[in-house]
Amino acid sequence: MEIRIDRDGDIDSWKEVTLIYNSALKQISTKLEILNDEFQHVHRYNPIEHIKSRIKTPESIVKKLKKHGYESTINNMIRYVNDIAGIRVICSFASDIYQIAEMISNQSDIKVISVKDYIVNPKASGYKSYHMLVTVPVYLSDRIADTKVEIQIRTVAMDFWASLEHKIHYKFEGNAPEHIKDELVECAQMVSDLDARMLALNEEIQHIEQQELEEYSE
Ligand code: GTP
Ligand code: MG
Repeated sequence: MEIRIDRDGDIDSWKEVTLIYNSALKQISTKLEILNDEFQHVHRYNPIEHIKSRIKTPESIVKKLKKHGYESTINNMIRYVNDIAGIRVICSFASDIYQIAEMISNQSDIKVISVKDYIVNPKASGYKSYHMLVTVPVYLSDRIADTKVEIQIRTVAMDFWASLEHKIHYKFEGNAPEHIKDELVECAQMVSDLDARMLALNEEIQHIEQQELEEYSE
């Protein structure tokens, strides 16, 4: 760990920082689980397939600070690294993404700092996902720490694509051969088509179920 330790207290503050970010992740995970359970109760289906969370490693925090020309201090990482605590929410259908994002933003203790909609505006790589940077209050014994969490919301298909693209990006250190990049862009289009067709199928099924319910109750 290269985070600069100037004073005796810095080791303690590094430990405290990790504790706070971990607590923030727990809070957001619990909120999402509650929303998913409630959704199951009201709408009879789970919008969330699964949730993954992670704390950024000290090595990649330092790398990011360096990249942006900041010294590796605890203050700088808190201020400038927005994805120390990251949570990824994987849904079945594209429409679930916006419902989850809205349910999260509507919670009164959560503050939305910024949103990047890479579904409406995909990256040149073909990457699609909905990103939210939020803060959540973490209640400590003597203070409340508003803590940043990066939430990425995407479908199973978008996640499949992003995992492979990430592996390829990493393998070629960002310089993948053109034909591979082109192929990935084409696959991203197929992912969008698949998501749209799966959503349409699901809507048709829901419509039939609704009709059956209405006939039954007549
Ligand atoms: P980072 O410095 O990478 O955090 O980028 P940023 O601060 O501009 O934020 P952005 O919202 O663009 O990306 C944040 C995160 O989204 C990344 O750390 C990845 O997890 C994911 N991501 C963004 N772009 C891509 C991409 O092209 N491919 C894949 N696989 N993941 C991506
Ligand atoms: Mg990142």
